[in-house]
Amino acid sequence: MADTLKYETIQVRTEGRVGVITLDRPKALNALNTQLMTEVVDAATALDADQAVGAIVITGSDRAFAAGADIKEMSEKSFSDVQSERFFGDWDRLAGLSTPTIAAVNGFALGGGCELAMLCDLIIAGDTAKFGQPEITLGVIPGIGGSQRLTRAVGKAKAMDLILTGRQMKVDEAERLGLVSRVVPAEQTLSTALEVAAEIAGKSSIAASLAKEAVNRAFESGLTEGVRTERSLFYSTFATDDQTEGMAAFVEKRKPTFTHR
Ligand code: CAA
Repeated sequence: MADTLKYETIQVRTEGRVGVITLDRPKALNALNTQLMTEVVDAATALDADQAVGAIVITGSDRAFAAGADIKEMSEKSFSDVQSERFFGDWDRLAGLSTPTIAAVNGFALGGGCELAMLCDLIIAGDTAKFGQPEITLGVIPGIGGSQRLTRAVGKAKAMDLILTGRQMKVDEAERLGLVSRVVPAEQTLSTALEVAAEIAGKSSIAASLAKEAVNRAFESGLTEGVRTERSLFYSTFATDDQTEGMAAFVEKRKPTFTHR
């Protein structure tokens, strides 16, 4: 379990088999500075390694999931700084987690905030959520995968519209475009995300991580390679106790008890 005492910009807890990371820089609308990135990645990696955790929820505050990368921190940097530091590079590690991740989004999810939400496997959004990639208004472009993941999520026409104008998109549009999985009243965002996370964490964690890998492959490869990968991941589920148990439970008309092995 992540050692929450060592973090200053996030809070970490577990509820049953669900790990919860709450971004906690309220004065800066949870702007993603380097310390916060390091802490989120560290906590998420620790939760991912914990066999007792079957899903991870990342959330912010009512006002902001995150209003983007920290502009005050970035404004001091030169080309050679960002190049040599591999600035933002550690965020990529979230994409490599095998545990399913859910972003529970209320308020602003802008720039790096939208990109962090898109790094998660599902986005559950409150009706106050606003998404956007406003980097162009600062003279830069998305840098945590936004130009790639947003385009894959909503298509070229809308991605160009959002990234070239920097406009904010309300949640009904985000849902229509398929960016978010579910929209709920803002006061129910976290509780809904926790329910969905608990539902996922109650399934076989091995099957969940393989299913996640298979869906992500659809994002990253062509159809033939994706189907081939899915088939071999499917075959590998037959090496697990959870496959034996899941199918036996169906045949015996009882609920399965998964051991995540
Ligand atoms: N970085 C640093 N500080 C930020 C911030 C950010 N991204 N967003 C908000 N803040 C700070 C503000 O500076 C302000 O701090 P002070 O009180 O010390 O001045 C505080 O949070 C509250 O913000 P506002 O007073 O601006 O609140 P508002 O309700 O009037 O406006 C907002 C809210 C529309 C989100 C506005 O804050 C805003 O436009 N923020 C910047 C959004 C943005 O451009 N994000 C993209 C960043 S670039 C990026 O993310 C690059 C990338 O690809 C990774």
